[in-house]
Amino acid sequence: MSTSAKSSSKKPRSFFSRLNARYPWLKIIAFLYLSFIVILDLLGLTISRTDNLSDDFPTTPMSKHVKATDRVLKDKKLVALTFDDGPSSTTTPELLDILRDKNALATFFVLGNMANNNPDIVKRAEREGHEIESHTMYHQNLIRTSYEGIKNDIGEAKSVLSSILKHPPTLTRPPYGNYDDRVFELTGTPLILWSVDTEDWKSRDAASVVAIVTQQAYDGAIILLHDIYPSTVEAIPAIIDNLRANGFELVTVSELADNRHIKLSAGESYYGF
Ligand code: NI
Repeated sequence: MSTSAKSSSKKPRSFFSRLNARYPWLKIIAFLYLSFIVILDLLGLTISRTDNLSDDFPTTPMSKHVKATDRVLKDKKLVALTFDDGPSSTTTPELLDILRDKNALATFFVLGNMANNNPDIVKRAEREGHEIESHTMYHQNLIRTSYEGIKNDIGEAKSVLSSILKHPPTLTRPPYGNYDDRVFELTGTPLILWSVDTEDWKSRDAASVVAIVTQQAYDGAIILLHDIYPSTVEAIPAIIDNLRANGFELVTVSELADNRHIKLSAGESYYGF
């Protein structure tokens, strides 16, 4: 504050020193007021920095609680990209980065044993708005597995996912798309198959995967992909761009069903909506 405030001179005193002499508490008030302003400013800066950070590293670009109907999907055709057999410690994080950067949602049918090895990737995928469902524990061909075998496999996958996500999976994709009445009974969930098969596991060719999705996508399609192949992850940016250029938006399987007012039921299988 004013240096003259400390002056003990009897010469004509400045306005501030007279003020200080008469109201010594004024400078405390002024100090508190200025501190308050500075603190508010710092808080403001902190908040805006957090905002910027969350733009760079969005933890919840679209929460899983936000339904398709709440998002801007008017006049859009919808498709669900689904990724099986992961998560992989290398390709899945790359895929999640791409989906985040493009603000696109997908559904992951994870294997329990893969999820067990990569629980943080599973958590991240869900945190970023994707749907995480069961593709069983060990990818057995369930129609050639004993009743007890199916029961154990499904049960193990459910328990692994429940422990990672703190809730059980609500949908199951049977390996190879094979199922029978025992699978319906023992999963106790709707079965989700697919209507567009990219055969990405066979071609291992990004251009081919892009071409198949772009040509075969239709409103309500469920598209089968595998996030464990680098060629598939490589195809995703072009797939998303092409789909959007053709008027599609990407949603999760549950969002797609919800958008079509279809209540998914245990004991039913779904290939598309
Ligand atoms: Ni599979």
